Amino acid sequence: MWLGAVVLTVLLSSGGADPWWSNAVYYSVLVDSFKDMDGDGLGDLRGVTKQLSYVRALGADAVILSSISSKNMDCDEPGTMDFTNIDERYGNLDDFKSLVEKAKKLELKLVITLTMQTISSSSELFNLSAERKTGFEDKVIWKDGSPDDLPADVDGINWIWHEQRKAYYGSLRKEVVLNLCSESLLAMLSDAQCIWLKRGVSGILLHPDFPLDHECGVQLVNKMTVAAMSCSRTANVEAPLILVESSLGAEASSKYYGEGGVGANSVISYDLASPAKRPAASLALAVHASLLYPPQDMTPTWLTSKRNESRIATRYGSEMVDAIILLALALPGATIIQQGDELGAADTILEWAVTSKCWPNPTVPSAAPFPWDDSPTASFTSGEPWLPLAPNYRYANAKTEYANDLSHIGVLKVASAIKKSPAIGPHVEIQKLGDALAVLRWGGSGSLLVVSNLDRGKTEVPLSRIPGLPAEMTVAASSGGSSFSPSSHVNLEKILKLSPGETVLLVGPPRHCGGPGPVDKIASKLSEGWQKINKYFGSLT
Ligand SMILES: *[C@@H]1O[C@H](CO)[C@@H](O)[C@H](O)[C@H]1NC(C)=O
Ligand SMILES: *[C@@H]1O[C@H](CO)[C@@H](O)[C@H](O)[C@H]1NC(C)=O
Repeated sequence: MWLGAVVLTVLLSSGGADPWWSNAVYYSVLVDSFKDMDGDGLGDLRGVTKQLSYVRALGADAVILSSISSKNMDCDEPGTMDFTNIDERYGNLDDFKSLVEKAKKLELKLVITLTMQTISSSSELFNLSAERKTGFEDKVIWKDGSPDDLPADVDGINWIWHEQRKAYYGSLRKEVVLNLCSESLLAMLSDAQCIWLKRGVSGILLHPDFPLDHECGVQLVNKMTVAAMSCSRTANVEAPLILVESSLGAEASSKYYGEGGVGANSVISYDLASPAKRPAASLALAVHASLLYPPQDMTPTWLTSKRNESRIATRYGSEMVDAIILLALALPGATIIQQGDELGAADTILEWAVTSKCWPNPTVPSAAPFPWDDSPTASFTSGEPWLPLAPNYRYANAKTEYANDLSHIGVLKVASAIKKSPAIGPHVEIQKLGDALAVLRWGGSGSLLVVSNLDRGKTEVPLSRIPGLPAEMTVAASSGGSSFSPSSHVNLEKILKLSPGETVLLVGPPRHCGGPGPVDKIASKLSEGWQKINKYFGSLT
């Protein structure tokens, strides 16, 4: 009966007031491409403030801002100039304060991205390190050698000779690699983090992967967590969220959680954001690994798309947009919706002419400006957008979709509301049925089941193989074009037929487990057995 089904039950934390981030829906904003208010074609902080109510209306609890630290204006030496100064192309500190105020009004938390792997070679930090200024000598990766004996690349890091210091420094995509093992760098990053917390952010997103010594990245996260706690106590603000993004995979990145609660609160999982679509078995295994490696009571944060890589519609096809959104929201833990994924927005197509100007971030196709409507600039800017709009923006835009309950936005709104419902239980069960992936949440006042066909062909899903489910469940949301319309009922005794990408979110009464069944009979037989044994031994003494 269990053939072909991967079964595992993970017991998640229950009881006690969970912190806000344990079950949050984050909306990840690329400031450059969200909304431009000053007409220069590049998104800015005032733009984010203006459109924050849209984010709230999607059902998000928090916004993750892309890095707004000042970057070099000269793209020959790209990278961050300073961790705490705001890049003037995005706005200034007053604009940031207005953003914090508006977010507070809307009860949205703000999380900022702190870049920490690289810095610009024209930054003051780099100059001082090159000069061996006390406290700066080791903030950058230096390697001794001679100018005519170039060391080999290490994990994509190449080496550039510095005449003044008479040593090589590590360089990654034309930026200087910071030394994450350095205590003085830790102190500097902790100070920067504290400044942002005092400015009113509720969390920090860190990218601590350090190719030269992963252990240093782990130590850095642990120490920055301690520093963040003490900063929040001093500043008398709520304990912040420390979220980690890592490309190391489930096992290695689980080290960032640290031990004894000193470490990241959650680590982002790339399982749903892989470049190629995964078949159900492979995705089920990956998701199980991501749930099992973290310490007890910790859950990963699921991501719909990596920030600088293709959106769902481009990498998996538009029929997969609702599938990924529903799976990401049904899994236990928090979820990050990448800007544009809630619309099924595609990547843009870059023409040669686009690359001439120096922008804060690289011109990548996934950075397409956000389409607010179907007008010529999609109401992203009153000027010329820094990147061309995505080819599908005339129908995949916020205005068109917001009014339509059956749109991707409609699906997201239902699923993010259900994520907060007491009907969602603490348990999860993930199965492969046919070519579909089924995610069941149970143990609460109801059951919730997402079933998604991840195959290129049709599939037949025998839901009756999941024991204890109610005979009938109701469709709360379904993917675009699905034959199962919201509010209709599904008989779970029957085989569910799903077309490629087709996904349904079913809700129903609680799963029926235990009660007077075989388990109780076995238990009473066992206790009968004990009574006999006790009598036997009793008669011997
Ligand atoms: C760092 O040094 C370079 C070259 O000496 C110089 O052009 C640049 O302005 C310096 N940067 C800062 C922030 O002082
Ligand atoms: C996205 O960023 C990551 C890490 O910063 C990098 O490894 C990757 O190559 C980037 N992808 C693209 C398409 O630029």
